[in-house]
Amino acid sequence: MNNNKKKFYIKTWGCQMNEYDSLIISNMLKKKKYIFTKIFYEADILILNTCSIREKAQEKLFHQLGRWKEIKNKNKNIIIAVGGCVANQEGKKILKRAKFIDVIFGTQTLHRLPEMIEKKIKKNKFIIDISFPKIEKFKNIIQPMYKNYSASISIMEGCNKYCSFCIVPYTRGKEISRPFYDIIKEISLLSENGIREIQLLGQNVNSYKYIDKNNIKYTFAKLLNDIALIPKIKRIKFITSNPMDFTDDIIEMYSKIPKIVSFLHLPIQSGSNKILKLMKRPYSIQKYKNIIQKLRIARPNIQISSDFIVGFPGETQLDFEKTMKIISEINFDMSFSFIYSSRPGTPASKLKDNISIFEKKNRLKILQKQIKIQTLNWSKKMINSTQKILVENIFDKKNNQFLGKTENNRTVIFYSQKNVIGKIIKVKIINKNKKFLEGQCI
Ligand code: SAH
Ligand code: F3S
Repeated sequence: MNNNKKKFYIKTWGCQMNEYDSLIISNMLKKKKYIFTKIFYEADILILNTCSIREKAQEKLFHQLGRWKEIKNKNKNIIIAVGGCVANQEGKKILKRAKFIDVIFGTQTLHRLPEMIEKKIKKNKFIIDISFPKIEKFKNIIQPMYKNYSASISIMEGCNKYCSFCIVPYTRGKEISRPFYDIIKEISLLSENGIREIQLLGQNVNSYKYIDKNNIKYTFAKLLNDIALIPKIKRIKFITSNPMDFTDDIIEMYSKIPKIVSFLHLPIQSGSNKILKLMKRPYSIQKYKNIIQKLRIARPNIQISSDFIVGFPGETQLDFEKTMKIISEINFDMSFSFIYSSRPGTPASKLKDNISIFEKKNRLKILQKQIKIQTLNWSKKMINSTQKILVENIFDKKNNQFLGKTENNRTVIFYSQKNVIGKIIKVKIINKNKKFLEGQCI
């Protein structure tokens, strides 16, 4: 079988981790001489990388597969592969409603996909592998995700926390951390190739824990410390953290390492202790506030963003008001906020859902409106301040205008005589318009 002319198309749903996974798939297939295409109707292999965190993931999947079925009806040689969280969750059951599928692969077996596709081509038999082989994925795929001068790399995967609403522990498996020196080596290499900003990825990056052969324990704080020692890396970001393992040694790094950005995404989910308990989030609002207080001592200008779930079973108007109160108290800069979505097999799915969809939507709207005001206020506050930006690109060539990103993800446009792409420079923010901030080189 000659793969040379086979084209593949990938559709990706979900988080950064899924995007990262799709990139890995894409790189692996390219290595095997398959050709990447952005046009689904010219592909020989259609790959769907699914997400099941919210919504009616199964319905969305079958809807998409329905469309691909028509393509397959016209050309029987087309291979359809389904992977990601829904594949792990549903496994072979997917076949019941979509017999025409050729390959099902899991979140921890995606590195085996090229092999599975080849097997399918040779033997013309349905192939499934959604197992959780320990660490194998990290050993097989170490490919970062690039964006200009920034690269994202996965440092840990999976989750052992079992928050009552969340499907991730079931679809991504147990927490596995990548070997410490593999990460450091890879980031050093990236820095030699021009990368200046590194974004560490994982379901719970701050729970990173690696024990080597000599029983030496490596923590997330140590990882931050050693990445910062790589001279050409100028900026360190990470996502996602949780309040459960946001320990003092990590907070300390904010005073010690200026390369860590003054922006942290720390999901709180709710402002009510009662709801947090039902969610099985083992912290109180006071504990969360203590973390933020310590962070602000270590890094006075730090901005915090968060995740919220509204309409969790049992959430009263008073509980929701407590969430609104914490939003203004912490003065969150941004948020990802969602209506609670019952996930099959999770403990929360057994709780009585006693809030109307009207009320849930209303709460979400109120919450998002408040956050939007706060985002705007934070941006306004930046006017006249000095910001360190990573220059990503040219904005307007004729007028020597460049585009860069602040530590808190704002886009800044500014004028420079010199080409400063790929550099971290200081600008003074002089204005704010609808889409971006305007700056002046210092
Ligand atoms: N590990 C992170 C969160 C990862 S999941 C943490 O501990 O906070 C990403 C976000 O999706 C969660 O923070 C939560 O806000 C949202 N989410 C997860 N399951 C959900 C569900 N069943 N319904 C609505 N939102 C959910
Ligand atoms: Fe989900 Fe809680 Fe883990 S939100 S990813 S089970 S920390």
